[in-house]
Amino acid sequence: MLRTTNCGALRLSEVGQKVTLSGWVQKTRNKGFMLWVDLRDRYGITQIIFDEERSPRRVFKEAQQLGREYVIQIEGEVIERESKNPNMKTGGIEILANRLTLLNPSSTPPFTIEDDTDGGEELRMQYRYLDLRRTPVQDSLIFRHRVALAVRNYLSGEGFIEIETPYLIKSTPEGARDFVVPSRMHKGEFYALPQSPQTFKQLLMVGGMDKYFQIVKCFRDEDLRSDRQPEFTQIDCELAFVEQEDILNQFEGLTQHLIQSLLGEDVGVFPRMTYDEAIRRYGNDKPDIRFGMEFTELNSMAQGKGFGVFDSQELVVGIAVPEAAEYTRKQIDALIDWVKRPQIGALGLVWVKCNADGSFKSSVDKFFSTEDLKAWASETSAQAGDLILVMAGEAQSTRRQLSALRMELAERLGLRDPKVFAPLWITDFPLLEWDEESQRFHAMHHPFTAPKPEEADLLATDPKKVKANAYDLVLNGNEIGGGSIRIHNAELQQKMFDLLGFSPEEAQAQFGFLMDAFQYGAPPHGGIAFGLDRLVAILAGKETIRDYIAFPKNNSGRDLMIDAPTAIDPLQLDELGLNIQPNSSE
Ligand code: AMO
Repeated sequence: MLRTTNCGALRLSEVGQKVTLSGWVQKTRNKGFMLWVDLRDRYGITQIIFDEERSPRRVFKEAQQLGREYVIQIEGEVIERESKNPNMKTGGIEILANRLTLLNPSSTPPFTIEDDTDGGEELRMQYRYLDLRRTPVQDSLIFRHRVALAVRNYLSGEGFIEIETPYLIKSTPEGARDFVVPSRMHKGEFYALPQSPQTFKQLLMVGGMDKYFQIVKCFRDEDLRSDRQPEFTQIDCELAFVEQEDILNQFEGLTQHLIQSLLGEDVGVFPRMTYDEAIRRYGNDKPDIRFGMEFTELNSMAQGKGFGVFDSQELVVGIAVPEAAEYTRKQIDALIDWVKRPQIGALGLVWVKCNADGSFKSSVDKFFSTEDLKAWASETSAQAGDLILVMAGEAQSTRRQLSALRMELAERLGLRDPKVFAPLWITDFPLLEWDEESQRFHAMHHPFTAPKPEEADLLATDPKKVKANAYDLVLNGNEIGGGSIRIHNAELQQKMFDLLGFSPEEAQAQFGFLMDAFQYGAPPHGGIAFGLDRLVAILAGKETIRDYIAFPKNNSGRDLMIDAPTAIDPLQLDELGLNIQPNSSE
C-alpha cells in the first residue's frame, strides 16, 4: 500500500498511530541534527520529522538528499508537535519517520509551488501540471467540480436528462467563426466544431426528448478576453412545450439553488429589465446592479445654454459618483485621460463637484448657473459630496463610453464586492441588428430565435423594431447565460433566413435538416445555455475564467504547455487533401 492516509487527514486524535504517507516534498528545513519535510498532496500538508536520534540512521541520511518536488513515501508514527501551527489543519501533529522510500526524484521546478508563487502567468501555463499542484489552483478546480455536480443533481432532480451531441458537425452560426476539421475520407470537405449544440438540442425536442441538458464543450474562433476562451463549457438546456416564463422560472431556480447550496446565500427573486431599459439606465445590456450610478439623460437641461459641446449632440448623459466631490484636479484629469484612451474613445468629460457645503464647482461654470447645476444634481440624485460626470455624443457610443467609466469607477471605489451576488434577467432583446459593414441584418441571438408573437407581423414591414423572445441572465455585470424561445415553424424559419440574407438555396443547403424536421410536428420549444466557466469564476468572486479551467489557452489562443497550434506534417496535409503551406511567420 503506498499510503494508509493522506497529507490532510491527521489530527491530535491520531497521535500514537503508525501511518504511511505519500506525496511531494514542498520544502525541507535542516537543523543538522533534525530535518523537517513539508509533505504535500491534494488534501493538505503534513510535517514529517527526521531525527538523528529517533529515526534510523540510513533514513536520516537519505532524508538529507531530498529536494523540492521529490515524490516520497514515508512510514512513521504520529506524534504531538511541540510548537503547533494553528494555521494548518494538521498543525497539531507531525510524523516521526522511520522509513523513507524515494518514489521519484524531481528536477528543480521553474517556480515555487506554494500558494503565493514567484512564477509569472506564462511560465505557470507552460508548466501547468506544476501549477496544478498549487492549492489555489486545485481549490478552483474542486469548486468547478462542485458547481458541475450541483448542476447535474439539480437538473436530474427536475427531470432533465443529459444527452451527448456530436462534436464533428456542420457549421451553426452563433456569431463567431467556426473551428473546422478537414475530412480525410471526403477530401475538400470539412466538419465544423460546434459553437454550441443549438440545432441538435432543437432536434432532440423534435425527437420528443423534452427536458435535455448537457455540460458540453463549445468551440468559437473569436477574439479572446479574460472571460472568453476558444473552447469553453456550456450548461446547455432545452425544453419542449414551454414559454419564456417557464424557462426563466426553471433556471432562476437552478441559479438560486447553486448560490444557496454552494455559498449559503439567498439571493431571492431575480429582478428583470428589458434590453431597452438596461441600455437607457446603464448603457449596457449586462449591467452590474450591485451599485447605483445610474445614467441620467440631461439633454433638456444641458442643451440650449450656449455650450456648443453639448448643443449639437444626440445625447447628454451623466452619472453621480458617490463621495467623489473631493477628487483633486489631478484625479479628474486622470479620469478624463482614461476615457480618452483609444479603447474607450470618448471626447472628454464634463464634471460638477457637489461640495459638502452645498456649493457647486464645475468645468462648465461659464455656461451654467448654480441653479442649472443644482437641477442636474437633483436629476442625477447626486448628494452633497458627490461628483457628477457628464458625457455627450452619438447616443450608442456615448452610452458605451459612460458605461465603461461607470464600471471603472465602481472598481476604483470598491463597489464591486465579489461576495455580493446581484442576478438580473434581461428580456426583450431586439431580434435583429443591422450591420453597416455587410449592409445586412444579423440575428442578435441566433437565427433560430423566435420573435415575440405579437410582433411577428412587423417582420415584413419594420424588422428593426421586432423584439425577440430572448433573454440573458446577468450576474454581477457578466453575461452568464442566454437563451430564447425558438422558431418551430418551417415557414417562419425560412422567413428569418430570408431576412438574414440567405437565399432559399443557401438556407436549404445549410439548414435543410432543421426545416425538414419542422415539417414533422416540431413542438414549441425553448432553452438556455449558461457559460459554466464564467458561472464558476463569478460564484468564486473572480472574473478570469482561465483560473477555473485545468488546461486553458492564453489570450492569443495558444496552449503554451503542449505548444498548440502547430504546423502539421506535409504527409498529413496531403492525406487530408490540403495543399496549403503552413504560415511562414509562425
Ligand atoms: P450564447 O452564445 O449566449 O448562447 O452562449 C451562452 C453562454 O456561454 C458563455 N460563453 C462563453 N464563455 C466562455 N468563452 C466564450 N468564448 C463564450 N462564449 C459564450 C456565456 C454565454 O452567456 N446556443 C445559445 C444558447 C441558447 O439559445 O440556448 C448560445 O450558445 O456565458
